[in-house]
Amino acid sequence: MSDGIYIVDVDLGERCYPIIIGPGVMKEPSNLLPYCSEDQVMIVTNETVAPLYLDQLKQTLQGVEVHVTLLPDGEEHKSLQTAETIFDHLLEVPCDRTTTLIALGGGVVGDIAGFVAGCYQRGIDFIQIPTTLLSQVDSSVGGKTGVNHSMGKNMIGLFHQPKCVIADTEVLSTLPARELSAGLAEVIKYGLISDSAFFSWLEAHIEGVLNLESDLVTYAIERSCRTKGEVVAADEREGGQRALLNLGHTFGHAIEAAEGYGVHLHGEAVAMGTMLAADLSFRLGWLESEEVARIANLYQRAGLPVIPPQELTAEDYLRLMAVDKKVKKGVIRLILLKKIGEAEIVSDYTTAQLKATLDSFSKT
Ligand code: NAD
Ligand code: GLY
Repeated sequence: MSDGIYIVDVDLGERCYPIIIGPGVMKEPSNLLPYCSEDQVMIVTNETVAPLYLDQLKQTLQGVEVHVTLLPDGEEHKSLQTAETIFDHLLEVPCDRTTTLIALGGGVVGDIAGFVAGCYQRGIDFIQIPTTLLSQVDSSVGGKTGVNHSMGKNMIGLFHQPKCVIADTEVLSTLPARELSAGLAEVIKYGLISDSAFFSWLEAHIEGVLNLESDLVTYAIERSCRTKGEVVAADEREGGQRALLNLGHTFGHAIEAAEGYGVHLHGEAVAMGTMLAADLSFRLGWLESEEVARIANLYQRAGLPVIPPQELTAEDYLRLMAVDKKVKKGVIRLILLKKIGEAEIVSDYTTAQLKATLDSFSKT
């Protein structure tokens, strides 16, 4: 670390890449230019982020031929149709296999842009410049890219690792408070799955992180990225332990799908989903009730909801969870907590135990 800047390497052999974290890192040409393979880049961003940060990025890229594809904002635009507009623009310019694609935005922009980079002319280089907390600690790292299908979220995609990730903490100052909290759900996740000391650190510093105190927020992102990077390096294609990163997500995706996307933010759904996972972990005799209370308390202090929508029935959950990518041979694999700081992939819970958890949060 130097001057409050951290670099975390994602160790994937010859595809190893740095995550450069800290205030102002997007303004430093030497953080970006070495990863632009030739002199032409296509920036993919959206109509919310562009007025805030596009000029700054272009300034950093002075001397490079820059093209821009501007997307509409919103999860509903994370589609094949939107991807096609980027393909169209790449072909119109024209861009070739040496063009570097740069994703400037939150997880939606990053996921679509990464998907396009992975497909265009069988794969071009790309750089992630995540501008939400969630994308800085999660979606920009690890190479999962994709778009939604009307029958399921993230159902079409591929693994395509970026050349580098630039997580500039200054951009978080314009992020709506609710989006910041949603990102904290993923930060807290790293503490829960493998880092009890980090969970305790968050308990001590969550207000400072929410207030974007530079040292605290940079450290929280660095520690999150370090955990994510290690998990990805050990299991890039989610053959095993990478699934632990989905703590709360199977329940959370069911909540998002039942309510319709956009009612709750992804991170909010993950927080509520994690409370369901924590309840089931308690029923299995793993988590102590005090630990469940600590998790709920930290989420609440982070501005996150902890009570799932009560109108959702156990049957709703079971139907919606059955289409999750984590279902193997009809069995829903869940990520549960042995304790704070230790998660496990579990298939051998009983339906009665799962139903007891779901019923306890449903008013019907
Ligand atoms: P998002 O991309 O929709 O961004 C949230 C909102 O904040 C948008 O309106 C966006 O335009 C705006 N915004 C972004 N940066 C801003 C800034 N600095 N200032 C002001 N406004 C800003 O949402 P997200 O939470 O970043 O990402 C969610 C997406 O990420 C989902 O599609 C989810 O499936 C995906 N995701 C992917 C992975 C992965 O591994 N690839 C992991 C987690 C989530
Ligand atoms: N967000 C889960 C993963 O990247 O595997």
